[in-house]
Amino acid sequence: MRVEKTNLLVIIGFFLIWVPLLNAQLPGLSTRSLDALLQDNAFMAFGAHPKTGIPYESHRIPSNLTGIQVSALRLRSGSLRTRGVHSFKEFQIPVGVAEQPYVERLALVYHNLGNWSNSFYPLPGFSYLAPVLGLLAYNASDLSASNVPELSLRASDKPILVKFPDLKLDPDGVSPKCVYFDLHGSVQFDNVLPGNVCSAIQQGHFSIVVESIAPSPAPGVEVVPPIAAKTAKYGGKDQSKVWRVFGSLLGGFILLGLLGLLAVWLRRFKHGKKVQQMEWVADRGETLQITTFGNAKAPLAMGTRTRPVLENEYVP
Ligand SMILES: *[C@@H]1O[C@H](CO)[C@@H](O)[C@H](O)[C@H]1NC(C)=O
Ligand SMILES: *[C@@H]1O[C@H](CO)[C@@H](O)[C@H](O)[C@H]1NC(C)=O
Ligand SMILES: *[C@@H]1O[C@H](CO)[C@@H](O)[C@H](O)[C@H]1NC(C)=O
Repeated sequence: MRVEKTNLLVIIGFFLIWVPLLNAQLPGLSTRSLDALLQDNAFMAFGAHPKTGIPYESHRIPSNLTGIQVSALRLRSGSLRTRGVHSFKEFQIPVGVAEQPYVERLALVYHNLGNWSNSFYPLPGFSYLAPVLGLLAYNASDLSASNVPELSLRASDKPILVKFPDLKLDPDGVSPKCVYFDLHGSVQFDNVLPGNVCSAIQQGHFSIVVESIAPSPAPGVEVVPPIAAKTAKYGGKDQSKVWRVFGSLLGGFILLGLLGLLAVWLRRFKHGKKVQQMEWVADRGETLQITTFGNAKAPLAMGTRTRPVLENEYVP
């Protein structure tokens, strides 16, 4: 019986350790590592001789990031400045947008994070009505390069517009907001323009959100534990997963150790009590009196209840 109890504790212990791990469907990547990975994928999509001004879709997104779409557009810098890009996916780039530092050819890389939006860009207290969309600019002189740093993109005259075609239905009486994430992890909110449009003067990631009414996310909305949220937002390294596993294991061992100690202590305690009682019974030499005494005094009632078991076990 006691052995079964211990087993149960062990099972519960393991359950407690592993559930957070199994539950954590986390991107093992920071947003910046994701940007770098998608830049690499986008550049591969160009192939050997890309045409300028034509979007190329990436079909090489790793299978563990299924749901993310990437597209790339190669442009001459002068063309961007003087003509803009009438439409590149949901983005509309007006005349007068320039990159810094100057490059002859640049690549615009588009991200649609789809169902990964909330994992990479968690916003506690808000829910997304649209996927997070990104627009980043790179030096496109060497298309085989990876880890290419972003160029800084600035709109001077008119803003860049992002038109979100289909919003998830928002709850009545709550007004949606545009949200903008820059490349350094800061967040800004702005009003939504008519037609579900957000405007921007810089590159980065964009979406439309509403404040959540309930603090806990609605069913079906993906839940990201706070640790993951922090990691994603503030650029935790890819080692975060390793640390999570290590932390869970360490926590688990400590928990098991404590449970073990508790079990040992309980055993000793019980045993000690039994011995005490036996001594007490031996001292009096009268078993019948215990009952009477026990009935009169409440704290001794427990001892009275276990007495028959004691006799069976210890008295031959
Ligand atoms: C996807 O799998 C690769 C290994 O195939 C791994 O290096 C990478 O961290 C994984 N990415 C995510 C987001 O889990
Ligand atoms: C997004 O959906 C794809 C399937 O379409 C799935 O494989 C992936 O795990 C989902 N990502 C998240 C974060 O739920
Ligand atoms: C753009 O890339 C080319 C080729 O790698 C390099 O020669 C050039 O210096 C880069 N330009 C900038 C501004 O980094």
